[in-house]
Amino acid sequence: MNSYSALKEQLSGNPATWLVTGVAGFIGSNLLESLLNLNQKVVGLDNFSTGHRHNLDKVQYEATTDQWDNFTIIEGDIRELADCITACNNVDYVLHQAALGSVPRSLDDPINTNANNITGFLNMLVAARDARVKRFVYAASSSTYGDHPDLPKQEDRIGNPLSPYAVTKLVNEQYAQVFARCYGFKTIGLRYFNIFGRRQDPEGAYAAVIPKWVASLIHDKEVFINGDGETSRDFCYVDNAVQANLLAATTENTKALDQVYNVAVGECTSLNELYARIRRILSDDFPHLEDVKPTYREFRPGDVRHSLADISKARRLLGYAPTHSIDAGLEEAMSWYVDDLKAITSSGE
Ligand SMILES: NC(=O)c1ccc[n+]([C@@H]2O[C@H](COP(=O)([O-])OP(=O)(O)OC[C@H]3O[C@@H](n4cnc5c(N)ncnc54)[C@H](O)[C@@H]3O)[C@@H](O)[C@H]2O)c1
Repeated sequence: MNSYSALKEQLSGNPATWLVTGVAGFIGSNLLESLLNLNQKVVGLDNFSTGHRHNLDKVQYEATTDQWDNFTIIEGDIRELADCITACNNVDYVLHQAALGSVPRSLDDPINTNANNITGFLNMLVAARDARVKRFVYAASSSTYGDHPDLPKQEDRIGNPLSPYAVTKLVNEQYAQVFARCYGFKTIGLRYFNIFGRRQDPEGAYAAVIPKWVASLIHDKEVFINGDGETSRDFCYVDNAVQANLLAATTENTKALDQVYNVAVGECTSLNELYARIRRILSDDFPHLEDVKPTYREFRPGDVRHSLADISKARRLLGYAPTHSIDAGLEEAMSWYVDDLKAITSSGE
């Protein structure tokens, strides 16, 4: 049995209390779903700035009544220390996801990005430290590699940040390290590469590429590729990110603590390849998409050209073993988006 299967079995019989910040968001709601499936108690904190109540409704729909009764939502803001203190009360593990994501958003609004991602992060660290939680796992980012040219990315070799968002994620890591050094507080940072999957928001100017393209294709709208399409990313299905969080929160390997880890698959996919794969999968349900071509436009400022992770550190120290390749993840994600669209259409929303 691998580490993750053993962990899930062990957790199922031993419920703990987890705080998921950003629980109404994409990754947060997936963490909630998995934890409730494992009969854990979950406290969620969210201010619904980029997250949605319908994400929670969808998790509730999939859960049993007993599982859903294990969930408490606190509508609050990590920029308010009092909200963080309330949320951390009697919690064993914190999975801190709340932040303002998106490089372009941070270029448009660096002040708000800083307040949510740095002040909010520090409030959460202080509240979690004072509540004596067992572990503080937080969402870091591959944007921390900045302008470092090496591929694949290894955790200890980072460059200069290329956006305000990247600065905030770097500062998060530095604060976490300082809290380990000064207060003996146990943290683990997960540098997510491009995470995708069910409930990732397709709407808005700052939507991520996969849900945005899927929504555009399904609704017969133009699909834009920034640059020549040869920009590449290490796209990672959300179930892999959930696995990394649960392993990081519960590892008893002391060498694994106070570290950051790449969370990815270790596969490099260009935007052109990604587009072709999404279109192929969707054309099973929407045959007219087979010949639809994307529109190429300017490169986007702040974007790095290539991103690919070395995931050997997470494999070695956390026992991380991604369950989903990009293709397996895309199949599951597309099937979810198509079903979701059909449900919305039939309910007349
Ligand atoms: N999705 C990715 O590919 C990716 C990559 C790297 C890092 N990350 C990080 O992972 C985390 C989750 O990302 P996501 O893609 O699920 O984004 P998301 O926007 O779907 O979720 C973020 C959640 O945090 C909440 N939130 C934001 N500010 C808050 C505040 N001040 N107080 C309380 N709640 C607040 C939002 O309402 C939302 O529900 C973020 O920290 C993000 O920076 C994501």
